[in-house]
Amino acid sequence: MFKEDLLKGKRILVTGGGTGLGKTMTRGFLEVGAEVIICGRRKTVVDETAEELMKETGGKVSTYQIDIRNADAIEEMMDDIWQGGPLDSLVNNAAGNFLSRTEDLSSRAFDAIANIVFHGTFYMTNACGKRWIAGGHKGNVLSIVTTWVWNGSAYVVPSAMSKAGVTAMTQGLAVEWGPKGIRLNAIAPGPFPTEGAWARLRPTGSYGDKLPGKGTDQIPLRRDGKHPELANLATFMMADECSYINGEVIAIDGGQWLNSAGNYGQLDQLTDDDWIGIRDQIKSANAQDKLQRG
Ligand code: COA
Repeated sequence: MFKEDLLKGKRILVTGGGTGLGKTMTRGFLEVGAEVIICGRRKTVVDETAEELMKETGGKVSTYQIDIRNADAIEEMMDDIWQGGPLDSLVNNAAGNFLSRTEDLSSRAFDAIANIVFHGTFYMTNACGKRWIAGGHKGNVLSIVTTWVWNGSAYVVPSAMSKAGVTAMTQGLAVEWGPKGIRLNAIAPGPFPTEGAWARLRPTGSYGDKLPGKGTDQIPLRRDGKHPELANLATFMMADECSYINGEVIAIDGGQWLNSAGNYGQLDQLTDDDWIGIRDQIKSANAQDKLQRG
């Protein structure tokens, strides 16, 4: 749907670009000529994705291993990236989330989410913004949020709070940095199945039937999102041809949030045992990730 060289000459950094939606968007940008830098916590994962996508598209991908909770490490990475020239765009995609009753969360559990989504997204954005401003370069920030930023969501409260903060950042900086040639927008995706999110937000088991989103009845268009559809919207948001869009949050969810304002509200039917089962499944997904991080 785009001309082949739509993003030719653009350098785009995608956080969490090794898997899931980050990988999908990276592929989309490469297909229309961008150079993409992906970063993530697991070096082998980002490296394997880079290799796969370079082969598939013939584009250029470089990688950094980084935990975006670490502001100093972000500064070092940005210095290194800027050695090769300024970035044109930043895609804040890296996130963390898991289903839990809020009363079961320790302060460390809250911090595990907030440090990635709320703090990490700010660190990344400001690290790019101050370099763009100092160098007099235009910039473009696209953050992946959720529709929960408008109506909250039960059982994912730290994520909803943090993503709402990212939305406030997007709107505030759209005004503050707009005069300096930097625009900020966000996409709020509905259900686009990925391994990482589904292990933490769609655990299976006896409680699986009680989870919203198991079917697609709640979604007016009666289906999940297809990954290339998200890539298309993100690619559009990267293009200079639509650079008058600033400070917006755009939902791509088949109309789901208009039809399900309570989000995970239905989970009040779950039993204590269901919650133990959910927690165990999330723990095993986290342990698997940690093994890969070494
Ligand atoms: N319910 C309640 N508490 C939980 C939990 C759950 N399902 N899973 C983890 N926690 C708690 C832990 O018990 C711990 O608290 P404690 O030390 O007080 O016991 C705290 O959260 C931190 O856990 P830990 O495993 O050390 O966190 P981490 O920082 O290594 O990883 C994430 C946390 C969120 C980063 C992890 O889930 C992850 O790596 N996710 C991958 C990315 C992702 O979430 N993708 C999906 C996005 S939708």
